[in-house]
Amino acid sequence: MVCLGNICRSPMAHGLLQHKVSALKPDWEIDSAGTSGYHKGELPDKRAIACMKRHGIDITYQHSRPITLADLRYYDLIFVMDRSNLRDVNELAGTEDELEKIWPIMSLVEEQQPEDVPDPYYGPGEQGFETVYKMLDQATDKLIEKYTGK
Ligand code: 4NP
Repeated sequence: MVCLGNICRSPMAHGLLQHKVSALKPDWEIDSAGTSGYHKGELPDKRAIACMKRHGIDITYQHSRPITLADLRYYDLIFVMDRSNLRDVNELAGTEDELEKIWPIMSLVEEQQPEDVPDPYYGPGEQGFETVYKMLDQATDKLIEKYTGK
């Protein structure tokens, strides 16, 4: 799961998916990263932690890190939150095989012209995080349906 800072959207996507599949698919390795290293080593944003906590999910085990080429080689699937992340991660890819792993996360919900998951970092506050949560809750349900048949 990839966004810009790896402190808001992708930690929420990571936490949601981890929470949903821990019993179902314990062998899945789920992680998240940012296209930037601005917040390297930091915990998720307080507002992201609070939002996830309201929904019963703890994400305080996560720390921000920048994505690397090794991630593109290692992971089977890379989900990005918006078209700017898509551009940046596509640029990092060195091979066709790596490029084919990269998907806008909302393409799981709407294949054609998938929506961007809006960046809640600069506002409008709690509601922005709830909007992100709802979108990612839907996308992660679709992901599980698509890759496990459940
Ligand atoms: P995220 O949000 O990409 O969802 O983690 C952001 C976090 C930090 C910044 C931008 C977006 N920033 O510019 O510091």
